[in-house]
Amino acid sequence: MPHDNLPIDDAPQAGTALAQLETPALLLDEARMQRNIERMRSRLQALGVAFRPHVKTNKSIDVTRRLLPGGTGPITVSTLLEADYFAGHGFTDILYAVCIAPNKLAHVAALQDRSVRLSLILDSVETARLLADERQRSGRAFEVLIEIDSDGHRSGVKPDGPELLEIARFLEAAGIPVKGVMTHAGSSYDSPTVEAIRAMAEQERAATVLAAQRLRAAGSACPVVSVGSTPTALFAERLDGVTEVRAGVFVFFDLFMAGIDVCRVDDIAVSVLATVIGHRPDKGWTLVDAGWMAMSRDRGTAGQRVDQGYGVVCDLQCRPIEDLILVGANQEHGIIGHRSGRPDNAPHLPVGTQVRILPNHACATAAAYRHYQVLGPDGALLASWPRFSGW
Ligand SMILES: Cc1ncc(COP(=O)(O)O)c(C=O)c1O
Repeated sequence: MPHDNLPIDDAPQAGTALAQLETPALLLDEARMQRNIERMRSRLQALGVAFRPHVKTNKSIDVTRRLLPGGTGPITVSTLLEADYFAGHGFTDILYAVCIAPNKLAHVAALQDRSVRLSLILDSVETARLLADERQRSGRAFEVLIEIDSDGHRSGVKPDGPELLEIARFLEAAGIPVKGVMTHAGSSYDSPTVEAIRAMAEQERAATVLAAQRLRAAGSACPVVSVGSTPTALFAERLDGVTEVRAGVFVFFDLFMAGIDVCRVDDIAVSVLATVIGHRPDKGWTLVDAGWMAMSRDRGTAGQRVDQGYGVVCDLQCRPIEDLILVGANQEHGIIGHRSGRPDNAPHLPVGTQVRILPNHACATAAAYRHYQVLGPDGALLASWPRFSGW
């Protein structure tokens, strides 16, 4: 429950000028977003594979309706709160793509009772046992995918290892048919070249298809083969054997994705509107009211070819101001400086000047906001779309 004194909905009205917006505010360029959606859609159409967008990036019905004009799924979620919210908007085919834990089973049951076909994932016999016990206790049916480790990035079982078949045997014996396999080739984010992303996409595909073939040979139906990350989805050259692709961050893109040449800086659809609040001329700093709470602490570009600090500073038309980045961030203070660190290189931006700052990681930055302030082609505020965070 929100505290009584907190505003529940402070969304500005359509038509409000940017100058009137209280900052920091999260801006969404609708035309850029739409272009990003079309790019992913046409790529997946060409590859002949279904799309199950990951809605963890946007956490917004307005954005997700544009991803899926049909309006009711399929979608991928990263929290059960996302599943609740989208179920409330009529989505019934939902993949919860984080391994299930015992304390979430009551929540899963509540979603099933709302007619949601919620698919769960797991990667151990230990978790399979939990579901088997729950099935025996409650008589509930579960739709389960086994997570495959296609690149050593995070979780999952090896596609050619013995655990895969052990888990399947355990599930099938407990009356839980293996619905499919899924993987997320997160190593694609570290790919130094587009060729390396292409190779990672093929590695992701081949590992998951191999796992599905082994499961089928062992007697499971395993109809679903699900892969996905934004880089591999956009650069895969073939996806034979794959039935669906999950991707999320492409809808907005960010500096991290631009840093590995998956998009251009001018494809980035979200930016933080901030206002100049002071200066430190001796250091060449301009202070703004967007610190790490507004930008997130994500410094993902620090390990890339070009370190973008806490974000790239742009003018109100979202054109980067040459070599100006957020060099530092405290909780509510952002420090704008010249990339070179030389005080005399930074332009003077008077107090009250508004800038737009492109984020390193769109999912992390958007998480702090209750709304997207949606901009039309002329830069005017078209609408304010609610979004949520948390669990
Ligand atoms: C399981 C899973 N699937 C799909 C995705 C989508 O990846 P991206 O945001 O790169 O599109 C993620 C992202 O973290 C994920 O964890």
